[in-house]
Amino acid sequence: MTHGIFISFEGIDGAGKSTHIARVAALFQAAGRAVVLTREPGGTPLSEQLRALVLHEPMDALTEALLMFAARREHLVQVIEPALARGDVVLCDRFTDATFAYQGGGRGFDWQVLVQLERMVQALPNGRLRQPDLTVWFDLDPRIAAERLACARVPDKFESQPAEFFAAVRAGYARRHVEMPDRFARIDAAQSLDAVGADVARVVGTWLQQGAA
Ligand code: TYD
Repeated sequence: MTHGIFISFEGIDGAGKSTHIARVAALFQAAGRAVVLTREPGGTPLSEQLRALVLHEPMDALTEALLMFAARREHLVQVIEPALARGDVVLCDRFTDATFAYQGGGRGFDWQVLVQLERMVQALPNGRLRQPDLTVWFDLDPRIAAERLACARVPDKFESQPAEFFAAVRAGYARRHVEMPDRFARIDAAQSLDAVGADVARVVGTWLQQGAA
């Protein structure tokens, strides 16, 4: 039986991950794999309702972190774990690293509390933690991201934060990268769309060849 594969895509707002997620999905589909495309916060009807709250309502930092993890728990139980058990490829637009980057880095919320919540929410029956098999991190200077976002749609609660917030979010991702280097692949998202796409395809291809799946 084919093993499920769980890949998450991360980066500050404006790093341009959406286009590349669709391309990775097409690569796997061309290879005959069933692909589940999903996102966080969100991915289930309840988690999408939580998304609407956390993205638009001002709230206490712990409340925000708890809602992110509540949405994640539901998403794991309803969508991600069943898909992996079927042997599907799960491509997730943001996962738990975003909570460490945005709530931990950006908001300055206690990193160790996030570690505790992660242990609770992502625990598997065998005692291990569910983590993405591979995390593709689109790393970008927040000033470039801000220029890209200026041409985009109406910003949500996070997208309207100042540049210093995104510098702290980026530092949060960098910290996770150092803490969990084995599953992180950093992509230089300042390159052209095609160059970033080529890097993403290479990273995923190399990872598959190494038999990680
Ligand atoms: P995003 O993934 O960028 O979606 P869209 O492309 O539709 O704007 O938006 C999700 C926002 O939520 C983004 O600003 C990051 C934030 N976020 C957190 O703060 N913590 C989290 O744990 C997650 C998953 C997202």
